[in-house]
Amino acid sequence: MDAETYKREAAAGALDFVEPGMRLGLGTGSTARPFVELLGQRVRAGLDVIAVPTSEATRAQAEACGIPLTTLDETPELDLTIDGADEISPDLTLIKGGGGALLREKIVASASARMIVIADESKWVAMLGQFALPIEVVPFGLAATKRAVEAATVASGCPGPISLRRDKAGRTFVTDGGHFILDAALQRIPDPRFLAERLVAIPGVVEHGLFIGLANAAVIAGPEGRRIVERP
Ligand code: A5P
Repeated sequence: MDAETYKREAAAGALDFVEPGMRLGLGTGSTARPFVELLGQRVRAGLDVIAVPTSEATRAQAEACGIPLTTLDETPELDLTIDGADEISPDLTLIKGGGGALLREKIVASASARMIVIADESKWVAMLGQFALPIEVVPFGLAATKRAVEAATVASGCPGPISLRRDKAGRTFVTDGGHFILDAALQRIPDPRFLAERLVAIPGVVEHGLFIGLANAAVIAGPEGRRIVERP
């Protein structure tokens, strides 16, 4: 079986956590996509939920699936967010933002009583950092912000090349919030909390893709089947 099959299995497993009446956060990406599709099937069969999407792409999909949507302005407290991740470490610290939606994803996850991360087994790592860490920045002062980010990674013991994300056409990638993304290829992040504190102290940094203490559980699917990992 391939990664797409495992992503769908993880997504299906997360449906067990959804209860009638819940206010949900809907993640973004190729693992969240089958979850939204499966949730839409349940909604059309009568499940009563309301949801906040974490991107315009997820909004469009959820609307097409018939899932009732709301906003954090109308519904500032959510019961459960289900989202994918680029890397998951054993304490359920995550790297997110490969799809560029990390800012809304973190806002929505932070507004949720619980977050469940869904992934295929390839996302499970002993130490974060093989996947380049996405860092969302404002366009103004980009070069200065990039230098400050470089200094933060050096101070955190994980220096590495940092590049401005581009889209498939070679244009600068722009997030739903109108910001740019720096991808930091750090290889290993020995102390995510230390790095996170340094990154948020940089004025041009809007948000970074380290999700610390947000995921309560992970549903991971792979060749050995599906397993649920609770945050220690
Ligand atoms: C979107 O910005 C990301 O945070 C995704 O949730 C993450 O990249 C996982 O994406 P996939 O499920 O497509 O691997």
